[in-house]
Amino acid sequence: MADVTIKLMDNGPYLVSGNVEVLDAEGNKFTTNEQFALCRCGHSKGKPFCDGSHKASFQDAARAH
Ligand code: FES
Repeated sequence: MADVTIKLMDNGPYLVSGNVEVLDAEGNKFTTNEQFALCRCGHSKGKPFCDGSHKASFQDAARAH
């Protein structure tokens, strides 16, 4: 199994687990825990992290083939 996993949550964020760093465009590191959620709906007020805003209208349930 990979050291880091990114799970697409149905109608929600990317759930990231493992030892990973999230950097901004200038290379500065965001503070994260071992598991955190990245916004994929585009509506979070706290990007790049999910703040629950997806619950209003975001729908996607992608599946790997
Ligand atoms: S996925 Fe949760 S706010 Fe965007």
